[in-house]
Amino acid sequence: MNVTIQKADRLRGSVAMPGDKSIAHRALILGSLARGTQAITGLPASQDVASTAACLRSLGCAIEENGPGHVLMRPGAWESGMRIFAGNSGTTARLLSGLIAGIGIDCTIDGDDSLRRRPMERVAAPLREMGASFETAPGGCLPMQIQGAPLQGITYRPPVASAQVKSAILIAGLNAQGRTTVVEKAPTRDHTENMLAAMGVPVEREGRNVSVAGTAELHAVHVTVPGDISSAAFFLAAASIVPGSEVVLRGTGVNATRCGVLDVLADMGAAVSIDGEKMSAGERIADLIVRHATLHGTEIQGKIIPRLIDELPVLAVVASQAEGTTTVRGAAELRHKESDRIRTVVDNLSRMGADIEEMEDGFVVRGPCSLQGATVSSYGDHRIAMAMMVAGLVADGETVVEDSGAVSVSYPGFLRDLQALTEGRGA
Ligand code: S3P
Repeated sequence: MNVTIQKADRLRGSVAMPGDKSIAHRALILGSLARGTQAITGLPASQDVASTAACLRSLGCAIEENGPGHVLMRPGAWESGMRIFAGNSGTTARLLSGLIAGIGIDCTIDGDDSLRRRPMERVAAPLREMGASFETAPGGCLPMQIQGAPLQGITYRPPVASAQVKSAILIAGLNAQGRTTVVEKAPTRDHTENMLAAMGVPVEREGRNVSVAGTAELHAVHVTVPGDISSAAFFLAAASIVPGSEVVLRGTGVNATRCGVLDVLADMGAAVSIDGEKMSAGERIADLIVRHATLHGTEIQGKIIPRLIDELPVLAVVASQAEGTTTVRGAAELRHKESDRIRTVVDNLSRMGADIEEMEDGFVVRGPCSLQGATVSSYGDHRIAMAMMVAGLVADGETVVEDSGAVSVSYPGFLRDLQALTEGRGA
């Protein structure tokens, strides 16, 4: 499906953000280990989250739909020997690796063409060290065969800063002998730790170390999934760069480990304010109010990268409208996402006339650029599709985003909400 975007006059109104994909995966996966009935509300309609629910059902979990975005989970009997399909979702494949190793069943995990190209040894290696047997396809990819065995707790230092790797190890550690500790290179999103704590599991956090004990018992809770800041980022960006805009993004999760995008936008001169903060199941939620502002370039590197890794494609679009140079370094992980996001963002923005240069571990944008409507591609990547639709709002003429159905992976209602804001209605 192609979507055509016209230059926007302005964005006005208020939208409720769809549930956070990362937290939704965890609510389902940890709910499958809990005693009692786990109620989850605010699940997003995301295909990735549906993949996690489908995999858990194949493994024997009872997940009952109880209305839009609302499910009830009850403990089931685990099924060994299944082949499960994680679709496009890296979080599904990697976190479920930890779950499957921990409960000690045999299983094969597979995914779509994009997921089959993404690295899985980063979870297979530590889980093997704990005692499970993992056989990956050539290149350390899916499909991956897991054979359960009793696990032993380990102390592991992941070579990359990855919340997916950390979470897979901690989830396996819940059923291992002794303590399991992950020592992070840089802080990554801590939703797994927050939800485990909310479910009554003692999680020790000290500096860059996070540990769980293998005797953990999880108690079912009611999780209300906060709005997704990674989805909000597209409107934060759009309202910041389209003159005359003012937008409210209701109920957005503002966990500090996810808010790097707010720090960078503030640094660039953006006008974003946070209103009505409250807590829900260990997570902070607030309304974000964003107005158009005159922006300037910045440097994005170091420890902030894991706190905004998914927002870098749309920050490249913002940088194209900012005065001066924006440099992103130390973000080679972008090459291992749903597409090689350094390549795909540079290729698309170059087609629109931006001054953007590819680096091994990031990119450099020299702004402000006058973007021209062009035909660009999502490369099957939801965040590239949405970033390019945002670019289209400030480009002269029409921007055609090919294969834009990819947005359903995280935010099926994106185009509807964007249209509501460009028409000044909100949703
Ligand atoms: C995620 C962690 C990040 C992020 C992904 C979701 C998670 O991946 O890019 O979209 O839910 O844990 P890495 O932790 O592997 O960088």
